[in-house]
Amino acid sequence: MKHVDILDFAPDFKRAVAFFKEQQNYAVSPLRRLQGPDGQTFWAKDETGRMGLGAFKALGAPYAVARLLGDTWFAHTGETLTPDRLLDADVRALAATQTFACASAGNHGLGVAAGAQAVGAKSRIHLARTVPASFAERLKGLGAEVVWSGTVYDESVAAAIADASQTGATLLADGSWPGYTETPKWVMEGYCVIAEELRASFETLGHWPSHVYLQAGVGGLAAAMAHMIRLNWTVQPELIVVEPAAAACLKASHEAGTATRSDGPDSNMGRLDCKEPSIVAWHVLERCNVTYQTLSEKEGASAAEAVTKLGIATTPSGAAGFGALCTQLSDKTNGKDFLPLVIISEGLA
Ligand SMILES: Cc1ncc(COP(=O)(O)O)c(C=O)c1O
Repeated sequence: MKHVDILDFAPDFKRAVAFFKEQQNYAVSPLRRLQGPDGQTFWAKDETGRMGLGAFKALGAPYAVARLLGDTWFAHTGETLTPDRLLDADVRALAATQTFACASAGNHGLGVAAGAQAVGAKSRIHLARTVPASFAERLKGLGAEVVWSGTVYDESVAAAIADASQTGATLLADGSWPGYTETPKWVMEGYCVIAEELRASFETLGHWPSHVYLQAGVGGLAAAMAHMIRLNWTVQPELIVVEPAAAACLKASHEAGTATRSDGPDSNMGRLDCKEPSIVAWHVLERCNVTYQTLSEKEGASAAEAVTKLGIATTPSGAAGFGALCTQLSDKTNGKDFLPLVIISEGLA
């Protein structure tokens, strides 16, 4: 039997691109060329309007929902579920019997709720008390049941796992851990669409970035981007993974040589405030030749202010890549070829 490494990540990114091209609310997100306060030109991939959800996470969970429903459909009918069948009554009738459960620092839950609503399924989202109440209202607006579970993100993750095992709901996490790796890979497969959009833009423009700053919570976005960049970008940039100093679990894992928890105070970069890395994401990052950079709370807040002033209203989580870029500027600006890319990963709700 072929040995399957649970940490392998070989995304079917063409399938993800094809899936989103079928979705009415899909459009390539804007790539903006901006000038920072110090005059440094940089590329900003603006995810703040993505599919009406306001964050790149709209590309992850909705895609995974469709794939999970496809598996259930196949188990019931022996047929492959194609994206054009998702609105058909027989498929929706089966979807209506399905509930997707997850924990969320905010945006992943919105993705699960939107994905479930799109196919006619139910969703139940576990939120820790650190998540702003505005997310709960938006989740309810997408038809989700919201459960306040625990004081910190980790406790809401444990609650979602318990929920799925007790109720039969399907767990749709964006993090991964031993024994739970396949669904998070599908979430990451959805994020690969961002890298493909960027590759197409840079091929056309001919101005490739020299450095790409990737903010990370559990690491799914950073790993999907790093994998795709190393796989098929014509010009190879340096890759910098950016975490709050208060939740630098990927950096800690890199230093320890094994997936490692990193404790710290609550971070104002709430969507990045994950103390446990995704084991799949960490493994991918380790083979993609990345460096790790942490950001203080103050640097995160100033970055949000600066990017918002440049016309993209965002949060410290959304602007963290830009924040890291600013901390490195004095080292880099002497190099005339320094042309960084950051992802503005969420808007101001
Ligand atoms: C706005 C924003 N940026 C970045 C991230 C980090 O993504 P990941 O947890 O996949 O590392 C998240 C995760 O929720 C997010 O919501």
